[in-house]
Amino acid sequence: MTQQVFIKTGALLFAAIFIVSCMHTTHIGQPFMTVSHPGKYQLVYHTPSQEFPLHSMATVDGREFLAIDDVILPSVQSLYLLTHWKILDGETVLDLGTGSGVQAVFAADNASVVVATDINPAAVKMAQLNAKRNGVNNIIDVRQGDLFSPINKDEKFDVILFNIDYPHSEATQGLWKLHERFFAEVNHYLNRGGRIYYQSGLIDNAARINSMTNKNGMSILSMRMDVALEADRQPIVYLIKRTLDVEVKAKSSY
Ligand SMILES: C[S@@+](CC[C@H](N)C(=O)[O-])C[C@H]1O[C@@H](n2cnc3c(N)ncnc32)[C@H](O)[C@@H]1O
Repeated sequence: MTQQVFIKTGALLFAAIFIVSCMHTTHIGQPFMTVSHPGKYQLVYHTPSQEFPLHSMATVDGREFLAIDDVILPSVQSLYLLTHWKILDGETVLDLGTGSGVQAVFAADNASVVVATDINPAAVKMAQLNAKRNGVNNIIDVRQGDLFSPINKDEKFDVILFNIDYPHSEATQGLWKLHERFFAEVNHYLNRGGRIYYQSGLIDNAARINSMTNKNGMSILSMRMDVALEADRQPIVYLIKRTLDVEVKAKSSY
Protein backbone atom coordinates (compact mmCIF):
# COMPACT_ATOMS: atom_id res chain seq x y z
CA MET A 1 0.00 0.00 0.00
CA THR A 2 2.72 2.45 1.02
CA GLN A 3 4.65 1.43 -2.06
CA GLN A 4 1.62 2.16 -4.32
CA VAL A 5 1.16 5.61 -2.78
CA PHE A 6 4.87 6.23 -3.28
CA ILE A 7 4.67 5.25 -6.98
CA LYS A 8 1.54 7.37 -7.54
CA THR A 9 3.08 10.38 -5.86
CA GLY A 10 6.25 9.93 -7.89
CA ALA A 11 4.26 9.71 -11.13
CA LEU A 12 2.26 12.84 -10.27
CA LEU A 13 5.41 14.72 -9.38
CA PHE A 14 7.07 13.66 -12.66
CA ALA A 15 3.99 14.74 -14.66
CA ALA A 16 3.93 18.11 -12.88
CA ILE A 17 7.62 18.71 -13.55
CA PHE A 18 7.13 17.72 -17.22
CA ILE A 19 4.17 20.10 -17.66
CA VAL A 20 5.93 23.00 -15.96
CA SER A 21 9.11 22.46 -17.99
CA CYS A 22 7.06 22.33 -21.22
CA MET A 23 5.41 25.62 -20.24
CA HIS A 24 8.84 27.15 -19.87
CA THR A 25 10.39 25.68 -23.02
CA THR A 26 11.00 28.69 -25.19
CA HIS A 27 10.15 28.36 -28.87
CA ILE A 28 12.15 31.41 -29.77
CA GLY A 29 15.57 32.48 -28.52
CA GLN A 30 16.55 35.89 -27.19
CA PRO A 31 16.90 38.65 -29.80
CA PHE A 32 20.55 39.69 -29.95
CA MET A 33 20.73 41.88 -33.06
CA THR A 34 18.29 44.05 -34.98
CA VAL A 35 19.82 44.65 -38.37
CA SER A 36 19.60 48.07 -39.94
CA HIS A 37 19.09 47.78 -43.68
CA PRO A 38 17.30 49.55 -46.52
CA GLY A 39 14.40 47.09 -46.86
CA LYS A 40 11.01 47.67 -45.25
CA TYR A 41 10.82 44.57 -43.03
CA GLN A 42 12.36 44.26 -39.59
CA LEU A 43 15.16 41.69 -39.39
CA VAL A 44 16.17 40.38 -35.97
CA TYR A 45 18.64 37.58 -35.22
CA HIS A 46 17.97 35.43 -32.14
CA THR A 47 19.94 33.01 -30.00
CA PRO A 48 18.92 29.33 -30.34
CA SER A 49 15.79 28.47 -28.35
CA GLN A 50 15.28 25.63 -25.89
CA GLU A 51 13.04 23.92 -28.43
CA PHE A 52 15.65 24.24 -31.21
CA PRO A 53 19.03 24.40 -29.45
CA LEU A 54 21.02 23.48 -32.56
CA HIS A 55 19.39 25.94 -34.94
CA SER A 56 20.10 29.55 -35.69
CA MET A 57 17.05 31.77 -35.81
CA ALA A 58 15.84 35.05 -37.29
CA THR A 59 12.54 36.86 -37.28
CA VAL A 60 11.32 38.93 -40.19
CA ASP A 61 8.50 41.21 -39.04
CA GLY A 62 7.89 38.68 -36.28
CA ARG A 63 7.75 35.59 -38.53
CA GLU A 64 10.23 32.99 -37.34
CA PHE A 65 12.85 31.36 -39.59
CA LEU A 66 15.11 28.55 -38.43
CA ALA A 67 18.30 27.38 -40.11
CA ILE A 68 20.73 24.59 -39.42
CA ASP A 69 24.16 23.56 -40.69
CA ASP A 70 24.98 25.45 -43.90
CA VAL A 71 21.45 26.77 -44.49
CA ILE A 72 21.44 30.55 -44.77
CA LEU A 73 19.19 32.70 -42.59
CA PRO A 74 17.40 35.67 -44.18
CA SER A 75 19.99 38.37 -44.97
CA VAL A 76 19.93 42.03 -45.94
CA GLN A 77 19.83 40.96 -49.61
CA SER A 78 16.88 38.63 -48.87
CA LEU A 79 14.99 41.47 -47.25
CA TYR A 80 15.73 43.87 -50.09
CA LEU A 81 14.30 41.38 -52.57
CA LEU A 82 11.32 40.79 -50.26
CA THR A 83 10.71 44.53 -50.13
CA HIS A 84 10.67 45.00 -53.89
CA TRP A 85 8.63 42.16 -55.31
CA LYS A 86 4.93 42.49 -55.81
CA ILE A 87 2.70 39.43 -55.97
CA LEU A 88 -0.96 39.77 -56.82
CA ASP A 89 -3.75 37.66 -55.35
CA GLY A 90 -3.87 34.19 -56.87
CA GLU A 91 -0.60 34.41 -58.80
CA THR A 92 1.70 31.39 -59.07
CA VAL A 93 5.26 31.79 -57.83
CA LEU A 94 8.54 29.93 -58.23
CA ASP A 95 11.21 30.72 -55.61
CA LEU A 96 14.57 29.38 -56.82
CA GLY A 97 17.24 28.78 -54.15
CA THR A 98 14.76 29.24 -51.33
CA GLY A 99 17.21 28.74 -48.42
CA SER A 100 15.23 29.20 -45.20
CA GLY A 101 12.12 29.80 -47.32
CA VAL A 102 11.71 33.47 -46.45
CA GLN A 103 10.61 34.61 -49.94
CA ALA A 104 8.24 31.67 -50.26
CA VAL A 105 6.62 32.22 -46.84
CA PHE A 106 5.87 35.89 -47.56
CA ALA A 107 4.82 35.14 -51.15
CA ALA A 108 2.25 32.69 -49.77
CA ASP A 109 0.28 35.67 -48.36
CA ASN A 110 -1.03 36.37 -51.87
CA ALA A 111 0.00 33.52 -54.15
CA SER A 112 -2.26 30.57 -54.89
CA VAL A 113 0.76 28.27 -55.16
CA VAL A 114 4.45 28.71 -54.37
CA VAL A 115 6.97 26.16 -55.58
CA ALA A 116 10.27 26.63 -53.71
CA THR A 117 13.42 24.79 -54.69
CA ASP A 118 16.93 24.43 -53.34
CA ILE A 119 19.91 22.28 -54.28
CA ASN A 120 20.74 21.77 -50.60
CA PRO A 121 18.65 19.03 -48.93
CA ALA A 122 19.12 20.73 -45.53
CA ALA A 123 17.62 23.94 -46.96
CA VAL A 124 14.67 21.96 -48.31
CA LYS A 125 14.01 20.57 -44.81
CA MET A 126 14.33 24.03 -43.25
CA ALA A 127 12.04 25.66 -45.80
CA GLN A 128 9.46 22.93 -45.17
CA LEU A 129 9.73 23.39 -41.41
CA ASN A 130 9.54 27.19 -41.67
CA ALA A 131 6.54 26.99 -44.02
CA LYS A 132 4.80 24.76 -41.48
CA ARG A 133 5.68 26.91 -38.47
CA ASN A 134 4.37 29.97 -40.34
CA GLY A 135 1.13 28.16 -41.24
CA VAL A 136 1.59 28.25 -45.05
CA ASN A 137 2.72 24.70 -45.80
CA ASN A 138 -0.56 24.10 -47.66
CA ILE A 139 0.50 26.69 -50.25
CA ILE A 140 4.25 26.00 -50.49
CA ASP A 141 5.60 22.96 -52.29
CA VAL A 142 9.33 22.62 -51.49
CA ARG A 143 11.45 20.54 -53.87
CA GLN A 144 15.11 19.61 -53.95
CA GLY A 145 17.33 20.05 -57.00
CA ASP A 146 19.54 22.21 -59.18
CA LEU A 147 17.81 25.30 -60.62
CA PHE A 148 14.84 24.18 -62.78
CA SER A 149 15.51 20.44 -62.54
CA PRO A 150 12.72 19.84 -59.96
CA ILE A 151 10.19 21.69 -62.19
CA ASN A 152 8.13 19.79 -64.76
CA LYS A 153 8.50 20.97 -68.33
CA ASP A 154 4.80 21.98 -68.44
CA GLU A 155 4.83 24.01 -65.20
CA LYS A 156 4.78 27.78 -65.71
CA PHE A 157 4.65 30.67 -63.23
CA ASP A 158 3.49 34.29 -63.08
CA VAL A 159 6.42 35.32 -60.91
CA ILE A 160 9.92 33.88 -60.51
CA LEU A 161 12.05 34.95 -57.55
CA PHE A 162 15.81 34.48 -57.69
CA ASN A 163 18.27 35.22 -54.92
CA ILE A 164 21.14 32.75 -55.33
CA ASP A 165 24.80 33.48 -54.65
CA TYR A 166 26.34 35.78 -57.27
CA PRO A 167 29.94 36.48 -58.35
CA HIS A 168 31.50 39.09 -56.09
CA SER A 169 35.24 38.32 -56.17
CA GLU A 170 37.83 36.62 -58.34
CA ALA A 171 37.29 33.37 -56.50
CA THR A 172 33.52 33.40 -57.17
CA GLN A 173 33.57 34.11 -60.95
CA GLY A 174 32.53 30.48 -61.54
CA LEU A 175 29.03 31.42 -60.31
CA TRP A 176 28.35 33.16 -63.66
CA LYS A 177 27.71 29.72 -65.16
CA LEU A 178 24.74 29.22 -62.84
CA HIS A 179 23.34 32.66 -63.71
CA GLU A 180 23.85 32.01 -67.44
CA ARG A 181 21.95 28.71 -67.12
CA PHE A 182 19.18 30.53 -65.25
CA PHE A 183 18.69 33.11 -68.02
CA ALA A 184 18.94 30.50 -70.76
CA GLU A 185 16.12 28.42 -69.21
CA VAL A 186 13.85 30.85 -67.36
CA ASN A 187 11.83 31.95 -70.40
CA HIS A 188 10.33 28.48 -70.70
CA TYR A 189 8.89 28.54 -67.16
CA LEU A 190 7.30 32.00 -67.29
CA ASN A 191 3.63 32.49 -68.05
CA ARG A 192 2.84 35.04 -70.73
CA GLY A 193 3.39 38.48 -69.19
CA GLY A 194 5.23 36.88 -66.29
CA ARG A 195 8.00 38.63 -64.43
CA ILE A 196 11.25 37.87 -62.65
CA TYR A 197 12.57 39.56 -59.53
CA TYR A 198 16.30 38.88 -59.47
CA GLN A 199 18.65 39.93 -56.67
CA SER A 200 22.33 40.28 -57.45
CA GLY A 201 24.30 42.81 -55.46
CA LEU A 202 27.39 44.46 -56.90
CA ILE A 203 26.85 47.20 -59.47
CA ASP A 204 29.84 45.96 -61.50
CA ASN A 205 27.76 42.90 -62.42
CA ALA A 206 24.98 44.95 -64.02
CA ALA A 207 26.39 45.14 -67.57
CA ARG A 208 26.87 41.38 -67.76
CA ILE A 209 23.38 40.77 -66.35
CA ASN A 210 21.98 43.12 -69.00
CA SER A 211 23.76 41.25 -71.77
CA MET A 212 22.65 37.82 -70.44
CA THR A 213 19.03 38.95 -70.34
CA ASN A 214 19.10 40.50 -73.85
CA LYS A 215 20.78 37.41 -75.29
CA ASN A 216 17.86 35.33 -74.03
CA GLY A 217 15.03 37.57 -75.23
CA MET A 218 14.54 39.29 -71.88
CA SER A 219 14.73 42.94 -70.81
CA ILE A 220 15.47 44.67 -67.54
CA LEU A 221 12.54 46.95 -66.75
CA SER A 222 13.88 48.44 -63.55
CA MET A 223 16.72 48.18 -61.12
CA ARG A 224 16.40 49.09 -57.46
CA MET A 225 19.58 49.67 -55.59
CA ASP A 226 20.40 51.11 -52.22
CA VAL A 227 23.44 52.76 -50.80
CA ALA A 228 25.91 50.09 -49.83
CA LEU A 229 25.78 49.30 -46.16
CA GLU A 230 29.18 47.73 -46.33
CA ALA A 231 30.94 49.15 -49.36
CA ASP A 232 30.77 46.65 -52.21
CA ARG A 233 27.80 44.35 -51.52
CA GLN A 234 24.84 46.67 -51.94
CA PRO A 235 21.55 44.87 -52.53
CA ILE A 236 20.17 45.27 -56.07
CA VAL A 237 16.82 43.98 -57.29
CA TYR A 238 16.15 43.75 -61.04
CA LEU A 239 12.67 43.45 -62.51
CA ILE A 240 12.96 41.45 -65.74
CA LYS A 241 10.40 40.47 -68.36
CA ARG A 242 10.32 38.88 -71.77
CA THR A 243 11.19 41.56 -74.34
CA LEU A 244 8.17 40.49 -76.42
CA ASP A 245 5.82 41.03 -73.46
CA VAL A 246 7.36 44.43 -72.79
CA GLU A 247 6.84 45.46 -76.40
CA VAL A 248 3.21 44.27 -76.34
CA LYS A 249 2.47 46.15 -73.15
CA ALA A 250 4.71 49.15 -73.48
CA LYS A 251 3.80 50.50 -70.08
CA SER A 252 4.04 48.11 -67.15
CA SER A 253 2.48 48.98 -63.82
CA TYR A 254 4.97 46.93 -61.83
C1 LIG B 1 22.09 33.31 -50.63
S1 LIG B 1 20.99 31.99 -50.29
C2 LIG B 1 19.45 32.87 -50.43
C3 LIG B 1 18.25 32.15 -49.89
C4 LIG B 1 16.91 32.82 -50.16
N1 LIG B 1 16.64 32.90 -51.58
C5 LIG B 1 16.80 34.18 -49.54
O1 LIG B 1 16.38 35.12 -50.23
O2 LIG B 1 17.10 34.31 -48.34
C6 LIG B 1 21.10 31.05 -51.81
C7 LIG B 1 20.43 29.70 -51.79
O3 LIG B 1 20.53 29.16 -53.12
C8 LIG B 1 20.79 27.78 -53.03
N2 LIG B 1 21.44 27.34 -54.29
C9 LIG B 1 22.72 27.50 -54.67
N3 LIG B 1 22.92 26.96 -55.89
C10 LIG B 1 21.73 26.45 -56.30
C11 LIG B 1 21.31 25.77 -57.47
N4 LIG B 1 22.14 25.49 -58.49
N5 LIG B 1 20.01 25.38 -57.55
C12 LIG B 1 19.14 25.64 -56.53
N6 LIG B 1 19.51 26.28 -55.40
C13 LIG B 1 20.78 26.70 -55.27
C14 LIG B 1 21.69 27.64 -51.81
O4 LIG B 1 21.67 26.31 -51.32
C15 LIG B 1 21.08 28.67 -50.87
O5 LIG B 1 20.09 28.09 -50.04
